[in-house]
Amino acid sequence: MTLHLDDSLMFREALDGLHGLHHSVSAALQQKFPAIRDTIAQRTASGEYGFLGLGNQPEVINRIESWTAERRGRFAHLLVLGIGGSALGTRAMLSALRPAAWNEWGADKRDGLPTLTVLENVDPITMQATLDRLDPRHTLVNVISKSGGTAETLAQYLVVREWLEQALGTEAALEHLVFTTDPGVGALRSLANAEGITAFEVPPAVGGRFSVLTAVGLLPAALVGIDLTALLAGAAAAATDSASAALEQNHAARWAGLQWQAHASRATNIHVLMPYSDRLKDTGAWFCQLWAESLGKRVDRGGNEVFRGPTPLAALGATDQHSQVQLFMEGPFDKTITFIRVLDTRAMLTIPGGRRTSDGERRTANGEQPTAEAGFEYLRGHTLGGLLDAELVATREALRSAGRMSCTIELESLDAYTYGYLLMFFQIATGFAGAWYDVNPFDQPGVELGKVLTRRSMEG
Ligand code: PA5
Repeated sequence: MTLHLDDSLMFREALDGLHGLHHSVSAALQQKFPAIRDTIAQRTASGEYGFLGLGNQPEVINRIESWTAERRGRFAHLLVLGIGGSALGTRAMLSALRPAAWNEWGADKRDGLPTLTVLENVDPITMQATLDRLDPRHTLVNVISKSGGTAETLAQYLVVREWLEQALGTEAALEHLVFTTDPGVGALRSLANAEGITAFEVPPAVGGRFSVLTAVGLLPAALVGIDLTALLAGAAAAATDSASAALEQNHAARWAGLQWQAHASRATNIHVLMPYSDRLKDTGAWFCQLWAESLGKRVDRGGNEVFRGPTPLAALGATDQHSQVQLFMEGPFDKTITFIRVLDTRAMLTIPGGRRTSDGERRTANGEQPTAEAGFEYLRGHTLGGLLDAELVATREALRSAGRMSCTIELESLDAYTYGYLLMFFQIATGFAGAWYDVNPFDQPGVELGKVLTRRSMEG
């Protein structure tokens, strides 16, 4: 299996004997699992779990790749306009699968591929700075909105459209625009039809926060050179693995079930996702939206008022050991922590070791004992990757001894295949969590009122 789940530290016996889940929970979850699977099968048949099939989209890949190939070398910058599910996945993929600080490398180091800027908010300071920095003559703008009617994205579009037109003229500006939206409805679709702007489709059966593996994420990913075939092959493998009826083998269902059970019986309502990898930092933000918007619901599936939902929290190892871990160790027992460990970076980047004598002493080039070595000695000769991993293991052990529950997701490496697997794993886990929590993970009625009131104030 591409992803290994170690959940042993969710259980009381492995912790301090006081906190954590009773070992009987595994059997109890397995007993409930057939009913959870039946529910999901029924809801899949009625069209709710549309994202599950996204690993298999050869035609979409072909269309995106040929459109992208025709434009290779033409644009120095890609500007994505979108918000929520129409932005977070793109940023997460860029961080996970392209070299760090992608936009700061020269074009030659990027193999002539464009920089990628994702504008999510409508903060005028950010927007203005972005427009001042980018050259409209060399910028492709991908406007992404599943509904085609989101106020933030439409406002961004109007500002950027004027910026393009002022620099290029109306006709040429159209060549710098590409939309990603619903195939049939919404303001963006109408505009695309009226003006002949290329518009990729977001399948109606896939919700916004589950859309990273549709053209929403795939088009920008292809434009910056991410391997779509490998990405979707990983996603397809995750979907296959999640079909297992044995909960022990079905990592996505089991992880979601344990989070739910710990919340229900141990009041751990805060779910921390803590990758020890800078490349996965933005995946934490993507996960937070997925988990929060999907599971935070006023009513359950039966329509009863329940005010349910865990609070996701993103943390980053080792950085947050100097920030949030104090709270995780000594604060309330209201959290579970899920570490993500990427194994193949452990041997990377040696911390200079210098020379040692036969008795283990360090000497400078002329044989003298270096001064001020004491504080550095234990680090030398190891790797930075090894240090990062040792910090994960040590923090997990410290939390264990303090009675704090955790899981560890291990990935052998982080490439397009494993990352596609990971994205699909979390989406499937969220789908399962909807069933464990007995809420609809695919709607978001709680954000409607704010939208209505915003519109009213802008119209008034
Ligand atoms: O999950 C969702 O549906 C939302 O978070 C959307 O992604 C977000 O509101 C943006 O919507 P749209 O893509 O329609 O502009």
